[in-house]
Amino acid sequence: MHPLQANVESFGMGGRDFLKESDFTAAEFTSLIELAAALKAAKRAGNEPHLLAGKNVALIFEKSSTRTRCAFEVAAADQGANTTYLDPQSSQLGHKESVADTARVLSRFYDAIEFRGAAHALVEELAEHADVPVYNGLTDTWHPTQMLADFLTMAEHASGNDWSDISYCYLGDARYNMGNSLLVTGALLGADVRIAAPAELLPSPEIQALATDLAAESGARVTITEDPATALAGAQFVHTDVWVSMGEPAEVWRERTTLLLPYRVDAAAIAATGRPDAKFMHCLPAYHDTHTVVGAQIAELTGLTDGIEVSDEVFSSAASIVWDQAENRLHTIKALLVATLG
Ligand code: CP
Ligand code: NVA
Repeated sequence: MHPLQANVESFGMGGRDFLKESDFTAAEFTSLIELAAALKAAKRAGNEPHLLAGKNVALIFEKSSTRTRCAFEVAAADQGANTTYLDPQSSQLGHKESVADTARVLSRFYDAIEFRGAAHALVEELAEHADVPVYNGLTDTWHPTQMLADFLTMAEHASGNDWSDISYCYLGDARYNMGNSLLVTGALLGADVRIAAPAELLPSPEIQALATDLAAESGARVTITEDPATALAGAQFVHTDVWVSMGEPAEVWRERTTLLLPYRVDAAAIAATGRPDAKFMHCLPAYHDTHTVVGAQIAELTGLTDGIEVSDEVFSSAASIVWDQAENRLHTIKALLVATLG
């Protein structure tokens, strides 16, 4: 038996869903990240075991994706599993068949189902009616597979060996998937987590209460503030995300840019950490220049020609670890598949 296989069996995570970060204990979350690091090393060394031979995974994307889709497809292929990609245009989902019936059918064909959509209730409904593990590939409320990658990446670049050594802030739209997930995952693991946004874009009271409860158990230091300088001071990792997310109407751009301009990540924001080892992170895709249709339109609307939520100067700087972060989507999604299906 390959040592990684014995390691995975000791986790006891077979058959589990991953709908939101708090579905796992801090120890389980940490085990997945350690497994991802081991799988990454094995792939680089050319001795990756094929722990998912003969498995089949359905990938449902109601919203578009580059990283998450490709990570699931390549992770499965690396491990000997097959995938099927489904979207609303090429399947019956949504318009002719309910989520519940889709879950029942796919459970007869597949060993696991990934789902990306809008309402979090949809992925919960899918999981309720599926007999196989269901993974949330992003909803409006949570982005849990992204958190596995973000915490592996921070662990790789952090100075200490413990989650309590990691301090990071998130600046931007904090009442959506990335803000919620970064708040709750830091609270779960015991990090120093700071969230900064204008009052109307802070996480909901329920999500703040969940973070408070988790922090009481883990010892996490949680700061939720409207002041970007408070969030930045002393933080090693500076995260942001797009100011308008998939599924939101284009009309909100004008109001959102007015609200979020003080939370833009530029060179002054990185300097405000006071840390020479500060790093910039972004789940991507990012509007850091005018080389995309939307990036060009918003630059025209706002006059922000050097990036919207992040300046191109920061995005392209030596402090930016966004490509490591993107690569780690592959290794961490592979760890999730192996731990729940292997
Ligand atoms: N970060 C992320 O989820 O990217 P995709 O939308 O490309 O999957
Ligand atoms: N908040 C972004 C994340 C994309 C990965 C969105 O939902 O569009």
